[in-house]
Amino acid sequence: PVAQQPRLTVIGTGYLGATHAVSMAVLGYEVLGVDVDPAKVDALVAGRVPFHEPGLPEKLAEALASGRLRFSSSMQEAAEFGDVHFVCVGTPQQRGSNAADLTYVDGAFRELASHITRRALVVGKSTVPVGTAARLAALVREVAPAGADVEVAWNPEFLREGYAVQDTLHPDRLVFGVESPWAEAQLRAAFRPVLDEGTPLVVADLPTSELVKVAANSFLATKISFINAMAEICEATGADVSLLASALSHDTRIGGRFLKPGLGFGGGCLPKDIRAFSARADELGVGQAVRFLDEVDAINLRRRQRTVDLVAELVDGDLAGKKVAALGAAFKPNSDDIRDAPALDVARMLRDAGAIVTVYDPEAMANAARVRPELRYAPSLTAAVVDADVVVLLTEWQQFRDADPEDLGALVHTRRIVDGRHALDADRYRAAGWEYRALGRPV
Ligand code: UGA
Repeated sequence: PVAQQPRLTVIGTGYLGATHAVSMAVLGYEVLGVDVDPAKVDALVAGRVPFHEPGLPEKLAEALASGRLRFSSSMQEAAEFGDVHFVCVGTPQQRGSNAADLTYVDGAFRELASHITRRALVVGKSTVPVGTAARLAALVREVAPAGADVEVAWNPEFLREGYAVQDTLHPDRLVFGVESPWAEAQLRAAFRPVLDEGTPLVVADLPTSELVKVAANSFLATKISFINAMAEICEATGADVSLLASALSHDTRIGGRFLKPGLGFGGGCLPKDIRAFSARADELGVGQAVRFLDEVDAINLRRRQRTVDLVAELVDGDLAGKKVAALGAAFKPNSDDIRDAPALDVARMLRDAGAIVTVYDPEAMANAARVRPELRYAPSLTAAVVDADVVVLLTEWQQFRDADPEDLGALVHTRRIVDGRHALDADRYRAAGWEYRALGRPV
């Protein structure tokens, strides 16, 4: 029988898991969040979200107050509590390889299954190489105690940082990868309020559901690199990629989203997902089918060097000893995430080229300073730009968009700016006496 209102556990309370646990409790489910890291558990129990995500602290408070959300570090407790378990642990890039590191996923499935003594569904949400779910299903059957009745399903997650709560409560679609009607019914019950809103649902097999996720992220990465490849062509021809992107975007078959040229993509997902996909396709003997993803990656990384080159051009080719104000460190605005952040990478490259780089980011300073202690950090936007020979915008925070070119101009040594994200009004900056440069745009 399908539990009318299944009790849910969420294994792993990082970005994805914390958001999922909180959102499901807000939707009315009894939820137990589990993490091996007692510091994370303690923070969440105390109502603190250990990362920056707009709206999530308020929802956490609401969920805790409802009494429906609890946290624990006991997998045994999770196994006893849950009808449906969501595994939300990370799959980072392996050291020294492009493949995904499945240590945490394998460990979570193995440990959870070893404690389950009843009928339960274990649902993977992590992004994994296709074929992992079937392997985990076999693993679970092997390690679950006699008498347990455990099935594995897959439910890829498409949330964006900065919009995590909204994307979880009102996703564009749900995808269930299942091996039985029972598993589908369990998942339907676990997402009832979301489905009742009319959210499109695709019910698929395990490998298709795993692939949906990497295919979606590959498509998005390709779209970004496509327009950035056009930016390279623009740079060789005097054309303007922002006008090109705007004209393309009016074709409803193309659309303007993820067609924003600039410094390119970063973060904990897109870069490692396309690399892992390419590595997995090689293992499967079909690497050729996604060889273009290697090019997508290469185009993306070239934008970082191009940004450094633009900054150098503005200071007559010699970065040595030049004061550079680097605006932004996070991989995108409204996030404190600096994993594979193009911004921080460019700041590092500028420093390696001899520049004196001062970084400011509204939220990511602590994370940035931990990873790149060799850079200088300023406590505010204005402090960062004081005396700068050149300013480079690397993450398009609203605060940077809103800055007044006259006010900034009064602080810098020389009015020179590279807009790495096409986020500023070039005309306003030029009118205020700035030398303005942007990737893929003519001087
Ligand atoms: C991405 C996907 O958008 C989510 O659907 C997915 O669930 C998530 O990865 C994941 O796999 O968990 P996220 O990493 O939060 O989400 O960030 P995005 O909003 O996709 O931005 C990725 C990068 O692309 C950022 O560095 C952003 O600056 C860059 N970008 C985005 C562009 O350079 N141009 C664009 O037009 C759009």
